[in-house]
Amino acid sequence: MNLTELHRSFTENFGRAPELIVRAPGRVNLLGEHVDYNAGPVLPVAIDRAVYIAAAPNTDGCTRLHALDLSQQVDLRPERLDARLDAAGNPLPGWACYPAGVAWVLQQEEFSTPGVFAAYTSDVPIGSGLSSSAAVEVGFAALWQALGGWSLERLALAQLCQRAENQYVGVSCGLMDQFASACGVEDHALYFDTRSLEWEPAPIPPGIALVIADSGVRRSLTHSGYNERRAACWQAVRELQAYLPGVTSLRDVAATELAAYSPYLSEIPRKRAEHVVKEIARVGSTLSALQRGDRQALGALMYAGHNSLRNLYEVSTPELDTLVELTRHLPGCIGARLTGAGFGGCTINLVELDHAQDFIIGLRDGYQQVTGRQSQVYLCHASQGVHFL
Ligand code: GLA
Repeated sequence: MNLTELHRSFTENFGRAPELIVRAPGRVNLLGEHVDYNAGPVLPVAIDRAVYIAAAPNTDGCTRLHALDLSQQVDLRPERLDARLDAAGNPLPGWACYPAGVAWVLQQEEFSTPGVFAAYTSDVPIGSGLSSSAAVEVGFAALWQALGGWSLERLALAQLCQRAENQYVGVSCGLMDQFASACGVEDHALYFDTRSLEWEPAPIPPGIALVIADSGVRRSLTHSGYNERRAACWQAVRELQAYLPGVTSLRDVAATELAAYSPYLSEIPRKRAEHVVKEIARVGSTLSALQRGDRQALGALMYAGHNSLRNLYEVSTPELDTLVELTRHLPGCIGARLTGAGFGGCTINLVELDHAQDFIIGLRDGYQQVTGRQSQVYLCHASQGVHFL
């Protein structure tokens, strides 16, 4: 990230120098996909791709947002947020709803959100399943926290950002992405139980590299089947309650119980529930495999997770499947799967560090040969959560 350029653009735009620079990372998820809204555990990693916001207070109360990557600017006024309008009364553009949603939630909770000049840029590709939106939310929440003179635990900040996305942007996402961007730990994955909200950092074994492969297919969760998947899980819970009255989420359902009652479930909720219940079990096994540095188990779990997202949850794409299949013949590959919501975006690959460069070249070339598309394939590192530079 070119911080000098960010500094320069801010100064050019606002006629003054920034006083703060916030960095909020994107994330990959090693395993535990579509389980965070089913009260299950997840294993994300905050990465060294992030949103950077340069900021300075604006004493007239207005927040002026400049999205450098889009070359667009919008002014926010607190009293217009509820109607999703900018300061001039025009509907907010989609990109501005993330910071605006954070301000809206913070105001509802009576946290001060002073006016601010903010210019931001990101090297988390948008719509690629690496949580660019959560990074924007968490970055702005941290910014208003610093300027507003109040203080919240990182996890509580992440929860407010999730609420902004659920209620303002309209995506019924779980807490994983905002959590990872807020609480990331360098060189570690994060085992996060979305029910108890307890979490622990899990070291990534030495010698294992994280490689991201971008299928180049973009999606927006506001328009994809994401909310539909969530609704199907709820339907599965409701149908199961006829037999298991104590069940309040799919986290409560044991694999044996699901096997016993699945013949009585409607087809789509049955498939979605089967993915979720088995994926929850896989997360626990993946944590142990990471702790043991057991490459074989890690690989088997990741490929099984991908197959389940393809066949049962039906969120993969031919491009993501190709990226995963190609890895089976590449040097040093431990395991691969799609990461994030799916419907396009990226895969995450665990690779022996010594073979990482050959692996990257092999996957890039193979993908181009099979699909005719270019794939960005690159190493990433586990990074710390939101912080000020
Ligand atoms: C998106 C959501 C997360 C999570 C994943 C799927 O990234 O924002 O809350 O549900 O999809 O695991």
